[in-house]
Amino acid sequence: MERQLQIAIDGPAGAGKSTIAKMIADKLDLLYLDTGAMYRACAYYLKQNNALDDEKKMDELLEQMELNFDESGKQIFLNGENVSAVIRTPEISELTSKVSSNAKVRKILVHKQQQIAGSRGVIMDGRDIGTVVLPEAQVKIFLTASLESRAQRRLLDLAQKGIKSDLATVMEDLAKRDKQDSTREHSPLKQADDAVVIDTSEMSIDDVIKNILLIIENKGLFSRNN
Ligand code: DC
Repeated sequence: MERQLQIAIDGPAGAGKSTIAKMIADKLDLLYLDTGAMYRACAYYLKQNNALDDEKKMDELLEQMELNFDESGKQIFLNGENVSAVIRTPEISELTSKVSSNAKVRKILVHKQQQIAGSRGVIMDGRDIGTVVLPEAQVKIFLTASLESRAQRRLLDLAQKGIKSDLATVMEDLAKRDKQDSTREHSPLKQADDAVVIDTSEMSIDDVIKNILLIIENKGLFSRNN
């Protein structure tokens, strides 16, 4: 059987991973999986049930946790409840960065991500996709950008959601998450050896997409004439 196309997009918060991955998924008719949303929903769930400092309760809850996406991959459901909006607050971002260092949480979510990928063509974004979740992905991209430009984008995202903040606070939050995500013991944010690095600081979304499509095309995995 021909191998399905797997594209891994990793990188720090605010580099544009999900925007880019969603657009490429639409263009190439791939399943889009936002793994960050899964870690966020999990952190939200543990917090709502006061299980953050209670290992036994955490184990029970993790067993009962069901995460599903709608067909577009843009809405996430936690045990049937649409939590897509409530998991995007700065408070949940900060908490998720901590919860995602838990080895049990990672084991469960990585397994689920690999199951979802199954035998379909997929594009996933996260921190450990090229290194752990899809180590055999044919295309691995490490998207990065300067702290300031990532913070500017995040500030805009937050404003669109009606959340007020300022550049200095967002820069501080991102720097803290970067440090936590890249220094944790289990599956830290790390560029895969075979990943292509794209610095999006000075690039438009369109240019980033063109760049990635060219990488896919040059590997003979897709042709614009198809
Ligand atoms: O991509 P995001 O900002 O929604 O991710 C939220 C947090 O989840 C981030 O701080 C790190 C963690 N995460 C992870 O550890 N592994 C992934 N594959 C995706 C996200």
